[in-house]
Amino acid sequence: MHEEAQIGTALTIGSPENDFPLKEAPSYLLIAGGIGVTPIYAMATELAEAGKDFQIIYCTRSANETAYLDEMRSAFGDRLKLHHDDGDPEKIYDFWDHFEEARNMHVYCCGPQPLMEEIKAISGHWPEGRVNFEDFKPVEVVRADDLPFDVELAKSGKTITVPADRSILEAVRDAGIPTVSSCESGTCGTCKCGLIAGDADHRDMVLMDDERDDFIMICVSRARDGNLVLDL
Ligand code: FES
Repeated sequence: MHEEAQIGTALTIGSPENDFPLKEAPSYLLIAGGIGVTPIYAMATELAEAGKDFQIIYCTRSANETAYLDEMRSAFGDRLKLHHDDGDPEKIYDFWDHFEEARNMHVYCCGPQPLMEEIKAISGHWPEGRVNFEDFKPVEVVRADDLPFDVELAKSGKTITVPADRSILEAVRDAGIPTVSSCESGTCGTCKCGLIAGDADHRDMVLMDDERDDFIMICVSRARDGNLVLDL
């Protein structure tokens, strides 16, 4: 649309659809990771207005990188639990206490893939329909004509192959190297990584033009030609 729509172009539009609706429940647990707070904030607002029982767990890297921090604190008080992991995989929030026993509540979770996979893994014994997810990933991370390439990780001294159907981030994670991410769609900046060498195909919406020689968003970007050397 950015490339083709002009003033006067006729566009076909539809009404908004809600694929993540709140259902009636005795109480609610809302879980947000990073920018996944967007629907969670709206849900919490609706539940607060309706006088419902709910709690929010909102995980981000740091207070500075927490969207709507002040607004949510003042709107939800102690119903909002914040957790900052400083980008350290060792410090991620431990959700087990909330899921050990299946409760008569509904859970709504929106955030990066690893967070949602974690919640799916620990809620398998909950009745169907109680734990709900919204995958906000808006872009096709891998394209049909993508090719495999190698990435040399300068800090860990490893070289990994990024398959045609995986992102650098996924390949790094598959190799057991700890890394951080949030949106996994090239929009939040969490996975920013130093680019030491190589011709990168930048597909993110975060880096400024003058940063593109030195940094790469490994959740979406790839090698244009040849291999890459990253500061990882
Ligand atoms: S994880 Fe958000 S830009 Fe990569």
